[in-house]
Amino acid sequence: MHSFAVTENYVVVPEMPLRYSASRLLKGEPAPYYAFEWLPASGSYMHVMCRSTGKTVASVEVPPFMAIHYINAYEERGEDDGPAAAVIVDCCEHYGDPAIIETLALHRLRSFRDQDVLPDARVGRFRIPLDGSPFGELDTALDPEEHGRGIDMCSINPAYLGKRYRYAYACGARRPCNFPNTLTVGGATFGPRPKARTQFECNDKVFCRLGKPSSRRASSFGRRGAKTKAPKAKMKAGEEGRRPRH
Ligand SMILES: [Fe+2]
Repeated sequence: MHSFAVTENYVVVPEMPLRYSASRLLKGEPAPYYAFEWLPASGSYMHVMCRSTGKTVASVEVPPFMAIHYINAYEERGEDDGPAAAVIVDCCEHYGDPAIIETLALHRLRSFRDQDVLPDARVGRFRIPLDGSPFGELDTALDPEEHGRGIDMCSINPAYLGKRYRYAYACGARRPCNFPNTLTVGGATFGPRPKARTQFECNDKVFCRLGKPSSRRASSFGRRGAKTKAPKAKMKAGEEGRRPRH
């Protein structure tokens, strides 16, 4: 596990079928993916733990996935705002294909400049039921063409961590490319506008650690972010901003 997601009440621990190869490590031999093996038959799971008690409240099997970075997560409640019925987790997902690990190797980055060899990625959205159901779902939350079918190193306005949110910021792809190339390498850090009432207002100040947007399109993406599909009635910017913070 490289990263995980949190909501207001839960920690979500992902278990994708990219597993350490203990036997190769003991022998000092490289595994198919450095220290890892890709074993989809071993299953893919999401585990939900209560932040206050530490107890596991759900462990569900999900479709095979390959995700290194998680964007955000939140709890899904019914109309009566009762206990959470499910946890929603968004991530940068590579269509259940570990090829991205090799793609980002330095020698490949140097060898395939300007070639369109960056594997497709999407905003993967898990729905993890909390009613004891054994399976969770994985869908695409955003039209992948909006970010050039490449997305990673996502960030959000931290005021919305663990809550419903609308905008995500990331490195996207301007193809052809062999690397996410539209915002920056290393992700973005937010400087929220003082007294901002909405997520969009805070977007005016996004600081990139390395590099500059490589095109006008990239600049636009950086300022505006990627709008995720969401139930508009519940996710209007501004409405969320008035929710009490915990
Ligand atoms: Fe990372």
